[in-house]
Amino acid sequence: MIQIQNVNKLFSTSKQQVQALSEVTLTIDKGDIFGIIGYSGAGKSTLLRCINGLEIPTSGVVKVFDQDITQLKERHLRSVRKQIGMIFQHFNLMHSKTVFDNIAYPLKSQKLNKEVINNRVHALLQLVDLEDKAQSYPLQLSGGQKQRVAIARALATNPEILLCDEATSALDPQTTQSILALLKRINQELGITIVLITHQMEVIKQICNKIAVMECGKVLEVGQLIEVFTAPKSQITKDFLAKDMHYERLSFAKDGEVNLMLHLKYVGDTTATPLISILSRDFNVTTNITYGNIEKLQGILVGNLVVDLQGTPNDVDSALTYIKQHIEVEVIEDEYITNRTCS
Ligand SMILES: Nc1ncnc2c1ncn2[C@@H]1O[C@H](COP(=O)(O)OP(=O)(O)OP(=O)(O)O)[C@@H](O)[C@H]1O
Ligand SMILES: [Mg+2]
Repeated sequence: MIQIQNVNKLFSTSKQQVQALSEVTLTIDKGDIFGIIGYSGAGKSTLLRCINGLEIPTSGVVKVFDQDITQLKERHLRSVRKQIGMIFQHFNLMHSKTVFDNIAYPLKSQKLNKEVINNRVHALLQLVDLEDKAQSYPLQLSGGQKQRVAIARALATNPEILLCDEATSALDPQTTQSILALLKRINQELGITIVLITHQMEVIKQICNKIAVMECGKVLEVGQLIEVFTAPKSQITKDFLAKDMHYERLSFAKDGEVNLMLHLKYVGDTTATPLISILSRDFNVTTNITYGNIEKLQGILVGNLVVDLQGTPNDVDSALTYIKQHIEVEVIEDEYITNRTCS
């Protein structure tokens, strides 16, 4: 549905040049909830804006519905844009208009009669659960309600794609959950393909089926959610995942012993393996659990455990060999790094 091929975007100002996108290649299929994660300045918004033609790449191809939108004239681009809705972190509602008029706004240019518009807006209000707020003004609404209005407005023209630029970043965790649940419902019930950018792994984890990780204009890693979560390749992905893991080194090696800090990764059936008790029983090592979490991603159980493994070098080696035979494990050499900037 969306194919981005070797896209580069160079911003030139009088003072400097910024390579906002560098050889970005991605494919987003119909029905995906595709998450793009990266720190500030990674190029996420620029990439999203290339998908609806608000930004034209310096080079490369952006195919949406099989048309290269970098080559379209403004008139054709406008018609493609009608099939792409967009929502933002700060909602971008018109404060002087009621909720009803905000949602009806994109329909005004379509020469529809009043009754059709009325019915459409009410159906959208029902979808986002705001039927009682039709005559309210944005300033009278909470952040979550404003985002619901923005979602209804973005869906007014029946788009096939919804682009979300940090749509939950200004919301508290509970409101974030409800907006994410609404986006998931829109994807499942209306079949709308969603591209969502964020700097929070938590958001991706809740609803995305695919994920791309960006840093300094480049896509470093892309894949199915479960793949990237259970076998991250780039350091930045590991950092993002580790942000949710709060652990400290609890024990330190005594004379003649070593201490290894391990990140054990359980997926699916392996979550049922009684590994820790086997280690204590059969390998003469002590294991201190310093962090543990198990959750369901796309219906699959995924567990993360950080343990301190302590014993003689031989015992620790044998224990590690045993662990490696059963589950994915990573030795944490130093604390995961959790902040980076582009040079
Ligand atoms: N119109 C512009 N002119 C000049 N530079 C720009 C322009 N838009 C973006 N940039 C630069 O391009 C880079 C990528 O910006 P972009 O807004 O895409 O990042 P982002 O990943 O969305 O960041 P954030 O998480 O802060 O929103 C940044 O260095 C930014 O300063
Ligand atoms: Mg941005």
